[in-house]
Amino acid sequence: MPKSVPKFSRPQTSTCLGSHLNIKSGGIIGLLLGLLLPQRYVELEVWPRSEEYTWDQPLIQVRGSDPGSWHNWYRRLNDFLRVYETSIPEEPPRAPCSVHNRRDQHLRSDQCDMAMRLWAPCTADEFYGYARGKPCIFLRLSHIHYWVPEPYNMTSSLPIPPDMPPHIREAMRLRPAHQYGDFIWVTCDGEFSADKENIGPIQYIPAEYPPGFPLSRLHTADRIPYSARNMPDQVPGPLVAVYFENPRRGVVINVECRIWTRDIFYDPKSRYGRARFELFVE
Ligand SMILES: *[C@@H]1O[C@H](CO)[C@@H](O)[C@H](O)[C@H]1NC(C)=O
Repeated sequence: MPKSVPKFSRPQTSTCLGSHLNIKSGGIIGLLLGLLLPQRYVELEVWPRSEEYTWDQPLIQVRGSDPGSWHNWYRRLNDFLRVYETSIPEEPPRAPCSVHNRRDQHLRSDQCDMAMRLWAPCTADEFYGYARGKPCIFLRLSHIHYWVPEPYNMTSSLPIPPDMPPHIREAMRLRPAHQYGDFIWVTCDGEFSADKENIGPIQYIPAEYPPGFPLSRLHTADRIPYSARNMPDQVPGPLVAVYFENPRRGVVINVECRIWTRDIFYDPKSRYGRARFELFVE
């Protein structure tokens, strides 16, 4: 069992073997593997998704003043969050409680109120920010059942990459891994320089917690039984919401989000641990 699968690439053994035949059969095996094992890479999921969602062109279009333009996103986020409904208290709650829980007085609880406070403004109560043209996007990791991540932390003496955003370094300093556990850090930014100007300030929600996925809640290969490693993820993973406080209106903003771990190398062409979407706030 490989520790992690190299990013999105065909097996490259054939090139080392040299002979023409081997290159050919290696290519065919690689192609077959590619067909048989779609998505053998850690996926950073972006929610909400439209009916026509594709990885390359996910457009989230909002006109704050017009409920017709955002109600669909609101509904999709409500549906998405329903899998997180639980009656077992979680500390911290892994998702804002759903609109279903919110409306039903019997289900309404202190725990739910607490979750709503923690996840504000990315909650159903606030229409996930869409009604004000300040949308929240939820991120989640999937296809992690074969992956043993190597997190970045200040606990080990290994170097930290110079391009790591300062707020992640800050989070690592404030919550040392030996005390608070490790995180798969996540950041979002404009994809191109114009987008970086248009994107405006971003908050990672819950704002009280570090911007990332706690390793303790991720069902990675080292935390699940061996037999579960070939099965789809069994438990919906933890979430991080990205709140766009003031995106420039009237332009399409290309947003790129990525995770930070030692074993995943950033490549703007790769999907491995990286997501992109287009935001258009009218
Ligand atoms: C810190 O990072 C290193 C290197 O990725 C990892 O081996 C270790 O488990 C992490 N956590 C702690 C608490 O040291």
